[in-house]
Amino acid sequence: MSQDSIAATSLAGSRNDGKRGLWSSRWAFILAATGSAVGLGNIWKFPYITGENGGGAFVLVYLACILVIGIPLLMAEVMIGRRGRANPEGAIAAMAREAGASQHWRWLGTLAVICGFLILSFYAVVAGWALAYTPAAASGAFAGLDGEASGALFGALLANPWKLAGYGTLVLVLTLGIVACGVRDGLERSLRFLMPGLFVLLLILVGYAATTGHFMQAVHFLFDADFSKLSGTGVLVALGHAFFTLSLASGAMMAYGSYLPAGTSIAKTSIMVAIADTGVALLAGLAIFPLVFANGLEPGAGPGLIFVTLPIAFGQMPLGQVVGGLFFIMLAIAALTSAISLSEPTIAWLSEKFGISRLKAVLCSGAALWLLSLGTVFSFNAWSEVTLFGKTFFDSLDFLTTNLMMPLGGLATVLFTGWVLSRKTVQESLGIDQPQLFNLWWQLLRFITPVAILVVFLHSLGVF
Ligand code: PFF
Repeated sequence: MSQDSIAATSLAGSRNDGKRGLWSSRWAFILAATGSAVGLGNIWKFPYITGENGGGAFVLVYLACILVIGIPLLMAEVMIGRRGRANPEGAIAAMAREAGASQHWRWLGTLAVICGFLILSFYAVVAGWALAYTPAAASGAFAGLDGEASGALFGALLANPWKLAGYGTLVLVLTLGIVACGVRDGLERSLRFLMPGLFVLLLILVGYAATTGHFMQAVHFLFDADFSKLSGTGVLVALGHAFFTLSLASGAMMAYGSYLPAGTSIAKTSIMVAIADTGVALLAGLAIFPLVFANGLEPGAGPGLIFVTLPIAFGQMPLGQVVGGLFFIMLAIAALTSAISLSEPTIAWLSEKFGISRLKAVLCSGAALWLLSLGTVFSFNAWSEVTLFGKTFFDSLDFLTTNLMMPLGGLATVLFTGWVLSRKTVQESLGIDQPQLFNLWWQLLRFITPVAILVVFLHSLGVF
């Protein structure tokens, strides 16, 4: 069996016909891609960056970025993966070969693999926070907590490198362990209850926030667009987050697309993934901000926002121990399914490019990831004063990947798809039946999407 088919079998389960294995159905792919998209980005990151960037105007720009940039690019990435049938670098190289273009385009795939790898190193640490909060929530440690006490509790977690490293390591071991054992069946089965469960829990939290918190203040904060509160950097953060939340420009969607059966409509599935992902983020915002305002907390409090806000609610609501415990464990599992998708490009790339076994690839990448994750761990305590351009190690890594590598990688992918590949190849592989609809997407991808990325970039640099 070739390395390729080993990789495919372990990702996609037993349906291996001598070539790459495939997802069992369109639904399996939708679940896996939604599992990748929905994670810490929606529930942890979206609320805190919205708070830091002033609310409504930021949300509006973020939604526009999802529509004009995120969805067209998501479709392009899944298409490249499916047609190239390899890891991101291999898939782009295959497509470039087919188009008679330079093989240098493959660097775009390498950049995506590196970006996913870097993100996973800090993603695992934050997922560890959710794991750490699960037993605390379930055991009633949040009972009667006020804003100050909740802040102190979170501060104590961040100040403890052993605990942060321990939980971060646990997340890495779980992620890579699952990937090494073959993920399709487990992933499909767990996502089937996880996604609806997460939705229901978020709805309960929104209901609670609506009845006890300052709900209308939160609605105004999230949906009244006051552009004077939005800086150039804020616009870039909104763009970066559209990439982050849809798992773009980091190899995940290309890698998952490479196991997608032919004949599945990429357009429809991509739109469904984007809707589910955006819905979860908006629900998270509606659950959290009423509580932020009701408890006199600061919307711009930064990465600790949900870990400080939600425990107060869990400490007060009836059955808070059950709801809180379930919430944090589901957040941890949602993070795990995203982490799995973040690790797949690196593992497929290592094993396919260097001809090593998948297990070796898992062990090598695991060791490197663990070392790098310590940088994030220490940036919250021992190294919190060590900064580069005013940013800690964690902030720098986040900025480098989300706000630089993702938009630039995304721009290059859009240009590659729209200007290097032939219209015929793209139309054939995309599976949009109506010519007018395809035309609309094609023009969007060729003109509007790249210009929009460039405009945001130049705006954030202060060019206009
Ligand atoms: N989309 C994930 C989230 O919102 O939490 C994060 C992520 C997963 C980013 C996979 C990039 C990626 F390739």
